[in-house]
Amino acid sequence: MVKRAELKRDRFYKSAKEEGYRSRSAYKLMQIEDRFKLINGGNVVIDLGAAPGGWSQVAKELVGDKGQVISVDLQHIEKIERVIIIKSDITDEETAIKTIKETLFLKGRDTVDVVISDLSPNLSGNRDYDHFCSLELSKSALNIAVSLLRVDGNFVAKIFQGDCYNQFYSAVKERFRNVRAYSPKASRKRSAEVYVIGKGFRKSVQQ
Ligand SMILES: C[S@@+](CC[C@H](N)C(=O)[O-])C[C@H]1O[C@@H](n2cnc3c(N)ncnc32)[C@H](O)[C@@H]1O
Repeated sequence: MVKRAELKRDRFYKSAKEEGYRSRSAYKLMQIEDRFKLINGGNVVIDLGAAPGGWSQVAKELVGDKGQVISVDLQHIEKIERVIIIKSDITDEETAIKTIKETLFLKGRDTVDVVISDLSPNLSGNRDYDHFCSLELSKSALNIAVSLLRVDGNFVAKIFQGDCYNQFYSAVKERFRNVRAYSPKASRKRSAEVYVIGKGFRKSVQQ
């Protein structure tokens, strides 16, 4: 748990307040993007675990007027201009995919260019338990990405490190041509989170 005084000293928290981003996490996506260039102008991007909306704000800037961001979360997300918001539990993958596909259909699309996931469980403080819950969310994010991405599309998902981290990394590797793990500077030093980045989606599994 981050203490209030600690948060106020945090430079990313301060910048987010000053620059109008809803979360300090926005800087994590900016740093991922600086390094890996996942999102282009005109892209359709699905943001999983999007509340309160910092990543969606950054993704919206990256896709520009011709692109579209679709944000999904269990929790309410305050309106973001030009962003479509869906309230859904992504662990019910079938329903989440169906709802996103219906939204895409209305936009004349049946696939998306990029899936980004900053999904996080409510942290218990028990590292193994939190790792397990995070793994389940990340696996759902990957399954949703596999259902929705166009060939050569891109993916990023947060996962809390632990015993099954390699299992998730390998699952991403089966589906993407280039895979990397990355810890942005904006991640807190003692956080176990890491982002797995997949570029170049393949429709068939690579052994
Ligand atoms: C770290 S926050 C995301 C912050 C966001 N990227 C931002 O920049 O504002 C993680 C989010 O994952 C969401 N989440 C956790 N489990 C979920 C689930 N099963 N389905 C949908 N969203 C979920 C939480 O509600 C929470 O809003």
